[in-house]
Amino acid sequence: MLEPLSDEQLTRQISPLQSPLVWDLAHIGYFEELWLLRGGNGGGGSELDDLYDSFAHGRAERGTLPTLAPQHARAYVSEVREKVLERLPELAQDDFLVGMVAQHELQHVETMAQTLALAGLAGPNGLPRVTASGDVLVPGGPFALGSDEPGAYDNERPAHVVDLPPFRIDRALVRNSEYEEFVEAEGAAAPLRWGREDEPVQHVSFHEAEAYARWAGKRLPTESEWEKAVKTVRAELEHAQGAVWQWTSSFFDGYPGFRAFPYKEYSEVFFGDEYRVLRGGSWVTDPLVARPAFRNWDLPQRRQIFAGIRCAADV
Ligand SMILES: [Fe+2]
Repeated sequence: MLEPLSDEQLTRQISPLQSPLVWDLAHIGYFEELWLLRGGNGGGGSELDDLYDSFAHGRAERGTLPTLAPQHARAYVSEVREKVLERLPELAQDDFLVGMVAQHELQHVETMAQTLALAGLAGPNGLPRVTASGDVLVPGGPFALGSDEPGAYDNERPAHVVDLPPFRIDRALVRNSEYEEFVEAEGAAAPLRWGREDEPVQHVSFHEAEAYARWAGKRLPTESEWEKAVKTVRAELEHAQGAVWQWTSSFFDGYPGFRAFPYKEYSEVFFGDEYRVLRGGSWVTDPLVARPAFRNWDLPQRRQIFAGIRCAADV
């Protein structure tokens, strides 16, 4: 993805919301070195700790840091990868850590695709067309929310039973043509970029998604409703996963019995009433990450995510 870019494009601070692309690149190698070669947060210091620890500096200031130049960043990530591959049989004894590092890289690939989109640089485009219409009834009753699968993150655990009243959920994602009607009727802002009419709208914020749903006489699903629909009536939903992230009305918080693992900063520091949960994964999200229980979160005003809308309604 970064191969065709110039050094200037790689090092530029394209937006205060995003890191320079070369920061993401070296940070992928740093995270891999930290967890697979240095044994995690307790394991000995490195001069890269201050530069590439996500909590040391906010995204907006990363363009001013003395980070590795593109050629050095490339050499560093290759060197780390070579060492990891040599030790892989031994490392694979703890497949959670290897899986976590792989998922971390895939998530940064999506972050970098957002940066490319914000910069107006050509990135991949794999948005499917929306063809379905109508909604599906999800009967009331209990289901298992979350996951205890080996690759599940701490915030997906533990799987636990949740009892929901019946609700309806749209089979289709909201299309650009539908969103355009809302923009015209309400004087709302256009999304960050318009796609083709029959593609799902993307790059809308939580506030915009919520306002659209209200205008359409519906509402956003809660994240429990979203997951229940995917786990019980998935065949009825067009593009349940892998098209655009779908905003839910839920705040990001720990499930009952939550335990931070393997480090507090992955999820716990974001819990509370600031961040909203997104579900489903986008066309950029790797299927390894886009599993039914996977929870993404962001601030309600953010639009750089490949996020769109699926509406729900009370019965
Ligand atoms: Fe990261």
